[in-house]
Amino acid sequence: MQMKTAMCGELRSTDIGREVVLMGWVHRRRTHGGLIFVDFRDTSGIVQLVFNPEISPSAHQVADDARVEYVLAVTGKVEARPAGTENPQLATGDVEVLIEDAKVLNTAKTPPFYINEDGEVDEFLRLRYRYLDLRRERMHNNILLRYRTTKALCNWLDRQGFVEIDTPVLVNETPGGAREFLVPSRLHPGEFFALPQSPQQFKQLLMVAGFERYYQVARCFRDEDLRADRQPEFTQLDMEMSFVDVEQVLQLVEGMLIDTVPEVCGKRMLTIPFPRITFEDAINLYGSDKPDIRFGLLLTDISDMVAESKFQVFASAISEGGQVKGIRIPGAASYTRREIDELGQIATRNGAKGLLTMALLPDGVKSPLTKFMDSTAVDAIVARLDGKEGDLLAFVADQPGVVADGLGALRLEIGQRLGLMDQDTLAFAWVIDAPLLEWNAEEGHWQAKHHQFTAPVEEDIPLLETSPGAARAKQYDIVCNGVELGGGSIRIHRRELQERVFRVLGMSDEEARRLFGHLLEAFEYGTPPHGGIALGLDRFIMLLAGEDSIRSVIAFPKTQSATCPLTGAPSPVGDNRLRELHVKAIES
Ligand code: AMO
Ligand code: AMP
Repeated sequence: MQMKTAMCGELRSTDIGREVVLMGWVHRRRTHGGLIFVDFRDTSGIVQLVFNPEISPSAHQVADDARVEYVLAVTGKVEARPAGTENPQLATGDVEVLIEDAKVLNTAKTPPFYINEDGEVDEFLRLRYRYLDLRRERMHNNILLRYRTTKALCNWLDRQGFVEIDTPVLVNETPGGAREFLVPSRLHPGEFFALPQSPQQFKQLLMVAGFERYYQVARCFRDEDLRADRQPEFTQLDMEMSFVDVEQVLQLVEGMLIDTVPEVCGKRMLTIPFPRITFEDAINLYGSDKPDIRFGLLLTDISDMVAESKFQVFASAISEGGQVKGIRIPGAASYTRREIDELGQIATRNGAKGLLTMALLPDGVKSPLTKFMDSTAVDAIVARLDGKEGDLLAFVADQPGVVADGLGALRLEIGQRLGLMDQDTLAFAWVIDAPLLEWNAEEGHWQAKHHQFTAPVEEDIPLLETSPGAARAKQYDIVCNGVELGGGSIRIHRRELQERVFRVLGMSDEEARRLFGHLLEAFEYGTPPHGGIALGLDRFIMLLAGEDSIRSVIAFPKTQSATCPLTGAPSPVGDNRLRELHVKAIES
């Protein structure tokens, strides 16, 4: 076989006169006045080939017989395109290659969808033929962006003295977090490995082992219900550092992103340094623990103004310990009944019992509330929400969590509808000071909000037993455009405190030793203070690429129902294999 001497997408005017051998795929083909023009593609991009029967009748014949996605090897000379025929849309648009020789390396069946168009294609079909889907420009570029970004992040960490260390994939189950996948052990009947939901314990043990700065591009596995930004296996940029407190971790990660984003993507970062929002403010103002700060329209509390009102829905919500909050929807006063009902449905789908609206019309306020409150009280509410003529104000009354979910979802929908979510902006922010614990009402015990290895804020340690819900964590999440990009914490590094937290979580000392004895023991051998973070790499690339699903930036993702249409996984296994693994399949 000849040698490929140039990449299609890299040819420029400076290559004019060069004799090149190209190999790649027929992307598109058209004939014009006896000439055949082929858009020829390889991994680097596209260049135009010209087949002239007077230069090479045999090459012209090859081009004539070729169909899209045929694989060709061609020899030719790079020439300037005739004046007026340049294509500024194409990186190689100033040149074309005049073909002297051509050979078919392989033929191709007609693909089940267009590779040379960015049209809508059913996702199942795309995943079934993922190798063809990945030929499409957008998907191809996403995967290349993923590689370049990962490489840039790793290089940056390397320059800061981090070392990449890989950790096992066959591990012990870690209760208290996400549901894990299990792997039966053939050699130990009835025993199971778990696939790691993250390398958390191992990276902490690497700190005990004295490595000080660790990172890993780590594959993680979680057997959860899937969403656009959740896959059963996903990748973290996982990091851990010794001798740090919250501030150093935040500064390091922020520095990494500020240096790396411009290297790989043209998007603008909204605010540098990244704003820091307390967990409480995030919930109160944005109705979300992952606030999209590309736009305002914040939630406003009016509880004090309606607690005594005759409107029972509001008054009783407050007397039951709840609150009433509202949001301003610019320009929505003129919405039809149906459109307003639609907004109400967004709130109720997210748990609210209803959505009370006030339309600020030219001839006054139109709202069910005006029957129960005088105009001064109504005007005061309008003023607090900064309402202007033409706006619609919308309110939810309920327990704080319900209000946040209902109005938070509504706020995002409005941001979307009003085009306030600028796709070219990356709005990074830190969410800090989250509570250490949350109450698991179903099972009746406290559980770690981040994970059970997270350190409490020092002055809150005494609250662990007296008022567990009030203890704050040395924890931080990084969010971007309303997506939880990463999370981490400063860890507990003393045995006594770790045991105390396990107890608060309802674990007996015996159970704690059985599950985490190795970690507790390690803490007795000179464990440095340490902390870290993990960024969801798939989500990061999704944001950089402007995609709305992480499936678009993973070469071979699973479907929403956790299957792989390409290979057919998962699939039943034979009885022999099950017997060998000491496992019995139960019909459900
Ligand atoms: P956490 O569980 O918050 O922290 O995960 C860190 C980040 O990983 C990403 N992520 C996911 N991405 C795709 N699909 C999923 N199913 C999925 N689950 C999580 C998110 C998330 O912010 N060990 C700790 C980190 C630490 O404390 O250092 C951890 O795993 O972007
Ligand atoms: P009702 O008294 O049930 O007819 O409700 C009157 C208005 O209040 C309707 O617009 C409802 O959508 C709204 N509403 C009902 N419950 C709530 C609530 N918890 N929060 C906000 N609005 C509500």
